[in-house]
Amino acid sequence: MANVNIKIEGIPYEVEAGMTILEAARACGYEIPSLCAFNHGECNRGSCRVCLVEATGARGLVASCVYPVNEGMEITISSPKATAARRASVELLLSNHSMKCQQCDKNEKCELLHVARLTGAREDMFEGSQTPVTYDDLSPSIVRDTSKCVLCGRCVARCANAHGNGILGFENRGFRTIVGPAENRSFVDSPCIMCGQCVSVCPTGALMEKSEISKVDDAFRAGKYVVVQTAPAVRAALGEEFGMKIGTPVTGKMVAALRRLGFKKVFDTDYGADLTIMEEATELLGRIKNGGELPMITSCSPGWINYAEYYYGDCLGHLSSCKSPHEMQGAILKHFYAEKIGVDPEDMFVVSIMPCTAKKFEKEREQLVTRGLKDVDAVLTTRELGRLIKRSGIQFTRLPDEDFDRDIMGDYTGAGVIFGVTGGVMEAALRTAAFVLTGKEHEGVKFEEVRGFEGVKEASFDLNGMTLNVAVAHGMKNARVLLDDIRAGKSKYHFIEIMGCPGGCINGGGQPYVRECFLPDEEPDIMDTYKAKRAQALYSEDERQTLRQSHNNPQIKALYKEFLGEPNSHLAHELLHTSYAARVPFGK
Ligand code: FES
Repeated sequence: MANVNIKIEGIPYEVEAGMTILEAARACGYEIPSLCAFNHGECNRGSCRVCLVEATGARGLVASCVYPVNEGMEITISSPKATAARRASVELLLSNHSMKCQQCDKNEKCELLHVARLTGAREDMFEGSQTPVTYDDLSPSIVRDTSKCVLCGRCVARCANAHGNGILGFENRGFRTIVGPAENRSFVDSPCIMCGQCVSVCPTGALMEKSEISKVDDAFRAGKYVVVQTAPAVRAALGEEFGMKIGTPVTGKMVAALRRLGFKKVFDTDYGADLTIMEEATELLGRIKNGGELPMITSCSPGWINYAEYYYGDCLGHLSSCKSPHEMQGAILKHFYAEKIGVDPEDMFVVSIMPCTAKKFEKEREQLVTRGLKDVDAVLTTRELGRLIKRSGIQFTRLPDEDFDRDIMGDYTGAGVIFGVTGGVMEAALRTAAFVLTGKEHEGVKFEEVRGFEGVKEASFDLNGMTLNVAVAHGMKNARVLLDDIRAGKSKYHFIEIMGCPGGCINGGGQPYVRECFLPDEEPDIMDTYKAKRAQALYSEDERQTLRQSHNNPQIKALYKEFLGEPNSHLAHELLHTSYAARVPFGK
């Protein structure tokens, strides 16, 4: 693209034509306060007026996030007129904002506080009436507090971009405008899939995960035998909560921190992931052999399960009946491990650390109660774990590396680790299916064809004379392409992996917030590259494992030999499989 010559604060620069003033200024190393402008237009850009600057050729002040640069333009960020206008914009927002910042879990990463600091805004400059507030904490996953909303529209855009027809929108008009599900309903009374993508992009505390930290505190206080398991994607991002670079794997420090927090046992959910592969690959091959319903679709992602139940209730027979890995692991902990170590299962309290807000909803499903006990008792997001560690005074970056508990369960393979990224479940399943069908390990271990962030990936594999057609989709907007084909009877696939969040669990709604303004040490293109960096943290851990196929996990083999019998056995079905039920959007 052609370049144009501009001046910023009197200094000449050559920048790409077509850039906005904000983009050009950032590219030249200037910080203009901005709030509503977010990642490639995932926002209601131009609405907050926090980014006002003076520019020659324009009449008055312009919103730099929408106004394009022109040849010869001179831009002034620091004039008294521009600074006063930006400060007034922020003060207006603050005047209609709940100021309980100290109680807000987002206060460390609140972009409104950040622009208040940058502009010198004070909250008490304007007084008057406030927009009527909705506080919705009925869902187990997400809390919506409109008293903290700045109407930037990021959540509306992210929900629509990720899932097609988003469920969030602007309600009412003018001063009474708020953002929420249609008719200002609660999340539980809407077809929200609880994925938390809206939470990940909200610049303030208007959308937050529903914290379960106090539930875990109560379990410790009650003297429960509290054990914890961590999903693969958590280790790829937890370090970010402590200022570490994106993509730094922190598996050992995470385990060390969890021990110091008092958990009796610290397990890796990758053990459950290996178990899932044994059950899922067996189920797939059984369906192929016995003429069962195909394609079979993975069932690890609770956001995807919610979506399927709301929008594709007629296709639920295609879903694998396998519980998700942490739910399988919870069932094994309570109904196998507890007895082994002489603990009453009623006294065991299982905490899952997950990158996901939908897992909070999932653990409440009535189908995930086994022999009268919930498989999992509490779910904390990666961010909540970060808060728990900070609150305890543990110096995370100074911790030694420690290993997970692996006494009689907890061993895991590289296949389990890659579950955390789109294509990972498929690749793990292929590693085992290839072995079952050919009798030998797949050469080179990896199935590169299902890696990467393309919206829909597809591949065919010839396994001992059998052609296996597979597809992978992440984000419901992409998944719908595959699902509509299934509904129309046109699908050519045997096996499909679907993940609710774009990029898979590494970009789950419970992962640390990624914001350029809080990441001064990262590369300028971090908003485009952070998913790949987190994914690489998992792929590199897979490479470091001696065992990289689920069927080679010695403790999983022992579990079948000693307890479950064989994959898909009667007992395996009782403990490790589940069912689904169609739900009607806006059913009430
Ligand atoms: Fe430009 Fe909000 S950041 S108007």
